[in-house]
Amino acid sequence: MTEHLIVTDEHATRVITLRRPEKKNAITQDIYRSMSEAIDTAQNNPDIRCIIITGGSGVFTSGNDLEDFMKDSVAKAEVPRASNAVKFLYSLAQNTKPIIAAVDGIAIGIGTTMLFHCDYVLASTSASFKTPFIHLGLVPEAASSLLFPRTMGHQRAFATLVMGRTMTAEDAKAAGFVNEIVAPGHTEVEARKVAREICALPAEAVAISRRLLKLPPEDLTRRIDQESHLFGERMKSQEAIAAFKAFFARKKA
Ligand code: COA
Repeated sequence: MTEHLIVTDEHATRVITLRRPEKKNAITQDIYRSMSEAIDTAQNNPDIRCIIITGGSGVFTSGNDLEDFMKDSVAKAEVPRASNAVKFLYSLAQNTKPIIAAVDGIAIGIGTTMLFHCDYVLASTSASFKTPFIHLGLVPEAASSLLFPRTMGHQRAFATLVMGRTMTAEDAKAAGFVNEIVAPGHTEVEARKVAREICALPAEAVAISRRLLKLPPEDLTRRIDQESHLFGERMKSQEAIAAFKAFFARKKA
């Protein structure tokens, strides 16, 4: 377990909190592994009836750690996207417990795409959503190429996923992937209220109904595999390497 992820069980709710504020909660391989474990170990635990994912106050996550991307881009091995990230995506796709996300501040890359695997999303008025994959020379991930157009239609999905346009909390609510907008600093407290509401429902009936509402996990993992293969190839492209370098050069300026 990494120090950058806090996992606590509060009654029947597992709360997964990203804690790397100095890097805007950028997600490393260790964090992916720990998030994946936190979700997987909830599956056969009847005491856990719902999961909250939060970045705490002020930031959700700035997405995949770009230093990790940089390392993978120059690695000799021809690997698809780093395995812990893909494992985390599989955990999301195969998860059977309702997930509530509490988004306060920026949600970039996987910070936005993971929300499409969640069941209830709270955003604060300061939340913003952005998937700059193409700007980084990459392609969409997390089955977002399947789930975004399904949720918001092709044109809005194109503007978000391909053009990398930022969405506000209002945009995200209109697009259909945010349920509620609350004041900054209030997403977690509201998420706990939603968790209590879900936990009070009959658990088996929730699980069966949730499964009916979602795409079959195998459809999601098939798309995750297709995307991951292309993502792995794109990581080594000149476009991607130039974009990663530009981000870190920007810091030095
Ligand atoms: N990976 C690694 N480090 C990251 C990061 C990421 N995804 N996002 C932010 N950081 C680091 C910065 O390098 C900086 O580190 P430093 O203090 O050691 O220099 C620190 O977090 C703070 O970020 P900074 O850019 O100074 O803050 P900001 O408020 O000006 O901007 C962001 C915040 C998130 C808008 C900006 O950092 C950003 O665009 N990050 C990249 C997002 C991204 O492209 N993610 C990948 C999606 S696929």
